[in-house]
Parts: sequence; C-alpha cells; structure tokens
Amino acid sequence: MKRRVTKAIFPVAGLGTRFLPATKSVPKEIMTLVDRPLIQYAIDEARAAGIKEFIFVTSRGKSALEDYFDMAPHLESELRKKDKTELLDVLKSTNMDSGAIAYIRQQRALGLGHAVWCARRLVHNEPFAVILPDDVIAAEKPCLQQMVEAYEETGGSMVAAMEVPADKASSYGVIDIKEDFGSMVSVKGLVEKPKPEEAPSNLAVIGRYILSPKIMQNLNKMKTGSGGEVQLTDAIDAELQNDRDVFGFRFRGQRFDCGSKAGFLQATVAFGLAREELKEEFGGYLNELMSMRQAAQ
Ligand code: UTP
Repeated sequence: MKRRVTKAIFPVAGLGTRFLPATKSVPKEIMTLVDRPLIQYAIDEARAAGIKEFIFVTSRGKSALEDYFDMAPHLESELRKKDKTELLDVLKSTNMDSGAIAYIRQQRALGLGHAVWCARRLVHNEPFAVILPDDVIAAEKPCLQQMVEAYEETGGSMVAAMEVPADKASSYGVIDIKEDFGSMVSVKGLVEKPKPEEAPSNLAVIGRYILSPKIMQNLNKMKTGSGGEVQLTDAIDAELQNDRDVFGFRFRGQRFDCGSKAGFLQATVAFGLAREELKEEFGGYLNELMSMRQAAQ
C-alpha cells in the first residue's frame, strides 16, 4: 500500500532573533526573496508534493502571516478596475482553499519539537511533513516531492540530509549512519548540535521531514534537550530506540539558510539572478561590483 502524505506542519513560532530589529514587527517568514515571502516558497513546495492540509504553528505577532493567505477583496477590485490581470493571477497563487489551512498557537518558544507537538491533534494518526520555511531549497524537482516519492517506498520517518563542512556540523542535527545507499542512508542515531569532536558524521539534517505520527507520542514524553529547547531531533532519535526505521534523504538541490543573514543574502542574489526579468540588469550590477572590488584590491 502506498503511504500518502497530505498534511504538512509549518513551524513559524520562533522569535527570529537573528533578524532583529526587523523581526520585532515583521515575521521572518514574511521577509521576501525578490518579491515573494519565504512562506510562499514553502507553500509552493508543499503543494507540488501533494500536500492538501497546511498547519501553521504561529505565535503572538505573526498575524501578518494569516493575512497573507487571506483574500484581499479591496486590492483585487482595484486591480480588476485597472485591468491588471497578471497581478490578479499573482495574487491568486497566494489564496488557500477554505478549510485547507489551520493555525495553532505555540504560547512560548520552547523549541521546534514543542512547536510540532502543538499540532498533534490536527495530525491524528497519519504521517505528516514538516517544512521549515527559513530553509529555502532551489531544485528542479521540489525537495519535498523528491522525499515523498522516496518515502512511498520506505515508510518509517525521513529527514532531508546534506553534507556540511566538518566545522559546521555542530550547528545542526547530525546523522549517525547505519548504512549508506547513496541517495539515502538508514539512520543509527541522531545528535542535535554535537560538539565538533563528537559529531558522528558530516551529514546534517535540514528543514524538511516526513514523520510517523508516533513522533507525537515521543514528543509527549520529551524533556528539553540541547539549548534548553524541546528538540525534534531527539524525538526522531527515539524512534530508533523503539526499533522503527528512520532514513536520511540526500536531496538534489541547493539549500539556503535564510534564517541567517549571510544565507538570506545569498538566496536573494541566486533567486534574483534566476529571474528572467532581472538577470540582465541585476547580473550586470553584480559584475560591475566584482570588477570594482578587484580593482580596489
Ligand atoms: P530557529 O532555530 O531558526 O529559531 O527555528 P528562530 O527563533 O526562528 O530564529 P533565531 O535563531 O532566533 O534567529 C527553526 C524553525 O523552528 C521554528 C522557527 O519559527 C523556525 O521555522 N520554531 C523554533 C518554532 O516554531 N518554535 C520554537 O519554539 C522554535
């Protein structure tokens, strides 16, 4: 039997302190790459993977996110009057079907694991995806779609995995590899933010997951882990102690860490250059900038 994944959780309740002061009033997920907020990239990726129910774990101060997915009747009627059909189409892609979207509040930022647990009653007994919108992945086939296809064969739980330089592994959840099959590994253990000398590999977990509903039971019992937060990585690791399978999936694509300033700027440049209408002017500017920098050295 094929295992279908139709629900996705988007944890967006974090404080976004690395982008203060902007995130004092603008949710990080509303910040834009070119002209689309991070959350739009995440939603498009989920839709491409066949997700039908979108569960947002939000917090105080994130109402701009809820408004973003709402209809904008005044704006739409103004655009209609002016015959701006292209812009109307752009707006349409932000609308969600009635009942397809649910919001749950995480009252205190107790960590990613806790944020996912807040959605437990909406997940019921089905496997579900988790997408962290600040990990943006440029890929020919969207990352979650690649994972859903692989998951249909494997079942269990699956995390997106990426090789990182050894000195960076301690910023991630890191995979202890049981067996390496190339595009996929079976997992022996997961360690959240290991000390550099204790990292079991340089294969890091990034923000895409397909999880068994049993993870919610693990989270029920979870205490705070690394950084005083309830770690999703620990709840996935607990699956292994219960003899259930976890896989790491080496996705094809380029991941940008848009939760960090440098990553966000890199994504802005990459996505700007990928736009037909911008590549000449923006690419020309970057070339000019590079020549000026070289001349100054
Ligand atoms: P981050 O580790 O990037 O934390 O969270 P953050 O609060 O968003 O940002 P910084 O580190 O303060 O700058 C990874 C993901 O987990 C969500 C975040 O919204 C982000 O999508 N998260 C984190 C929650 O939903 N709740 C939490 O308690 C923590």
